[in-house]
Amino acid sequence: MSKLGVYIIGARGNVGATVILGALAIGSGRAAATGMVTSGPEFRGLAMAGLQDLVLGGCDVSAVALSDKAVEIGQSRIVPLDLARELKAELALVDRRIATVEGFKYGSLPRGGYLAELARVEERLARFRTDHGLDRLVVVNLCSTEPHFAETADFDTPEALLAALAKAPAGFCTGTLITALAALRQGCAYINFTPSQGSELPALRKIARDSKLPHAGKDGKTGETLLKTVLGPMFLARNLKVLSWVGNNFLGNNDGAVLDAPANKDSKIRQKDAALREMLGGDSFVRTDIQYVPSLGDWKTAWDLIHFEGFLGTQMTFQFTWQGCDSALAAPLVLDLVRLVDVAWRSGESGLLPQLSPFFKKPLDGHTHDFAQQMAGLMQWVDQLRHAKLPVR
Ligand SMILES: NC(=O)c1ccc[n+]([C@@H]2O[C@H](COP(=O)([O-])OP(=O)(O)OC[C@H]3O[C@@H](n4cnc5c(N)ncnc54)[C@H](O)[C@@H]3O)[C@@H](O)[C@H]2O)c1
Repeated sequence: MSKLGVYIIGARGNVGATVILGALAIGSGRAAATGMVTSGPEFRGLAMAGLQDLVLGGCDVSAVALSDKAVEIGQSRIVPLDLARELKAELALVDRRIATVEGFKYGSLPRGGYLAELARVEERLARFRTDHGLDRLVVVNLCSTEPHFAETADFDTPEALLAALAKAPAGFCTGTLITALAALRQGCAYINFTPSQGSELPALRKIARDSKLPHAGKDGKTGETLLKTVLGPMFLARNLKVLSWVGNNFLGNNDGAVLDAPANKDSKIRQKDAALREMLGGDSFVRTDIQYVPSLGDWKTAWDLIHFEGFLGTQMTFQFTWQGCDSALAAPLVLDLVRLVDVAWRSGESGLLPQLSPFFKKPLDGHTHDFAQQMAGLMQWVDQLRHAKLPVR
């Protein structure tokens, strides 16, 4: 049986730890796969990897033991605390496959420069693959959101990018760009679950195409944006004119603290606003904000107000409040993405996978933000993959 590795950048974060605990719990039959799209009946007959077969690992700048992190998220009610305690030994095993790394903050140069960092990341990925005898490795970016950097012609081709990296000053790019580049250069599939710039840049797309590697992104669609892409098309379908759609997100976890920095927040809001703006067109007033409210922890609260106009100009208002557990919403989607990217890869698909657009706030190469249309496209594709007659794993 071929062996699939999953290398998580940010493996000891809230989402990373929830993904790992979830895979261990479901894979060992201790928990149901509720929330995982690929566990639904429509996916039956698709030769996806079982969660028990995944070789999980990755890296993080944090050195906290994964089993302690699991207890922490258990105490915060993100995952059941008893599961976190029960799986202590299994978590410790995965923790041995997670490297504690230096990384670098945007605006500073990595030790020895960008190319030295690229070499370090590539070496880690290559070692992970050989140490565990893997046939395929999917790299998943779950690390803290990074600021948006200026995209210049340096990012257009692999050659230009490598030449620029050799002499670029601090602030040229982020660690996410370096890990995405390393992943593709090492022959790994790549998933960007964060709003940071990764494999979407032209140079990286080209490497993926030339090396026949699938990749997908970006920024997981888990809460408020999911609702927007369900409700927005409803207003359009009924020819109700959205005058204003304003949303405020209150977030208390570490992601919220990171997003409190203006440059990081800008990166996230770009994604959150884009979906609505693109669906509604330019006439609606669209505004989204994120505020850090420490006491809420992982329970992100979104409050949205939609002011709209109906027949003969009559104005009405719709409001909703969504209180979701961010990591519990995100983790199953990460597992879905890994399984679907892997099936696509084994059936010979490569390059950006726009069919995965229902999973993302900013679906790269996706043609629509409309969730129903996105799901229809996904299911059509799944049907094709099912008939690709892959070996059952
Ligand atoms: N939870 C959701 O619903 C959701 C939805 C969409 C996107 N995201 C994105 O997923 C990412 C993870 O979210 P989270 O709640 O787990 O955040 P988190 O802060 O709990 O976890 C991020 C992890 O990344 C690590 N990290 C930071 N810099 C690193 C580096 N250079 N190399 C390796 N590791 C590094 C941190 O130490 C931390 O453990 C964020 O970018 C977030 O915006 C989350």
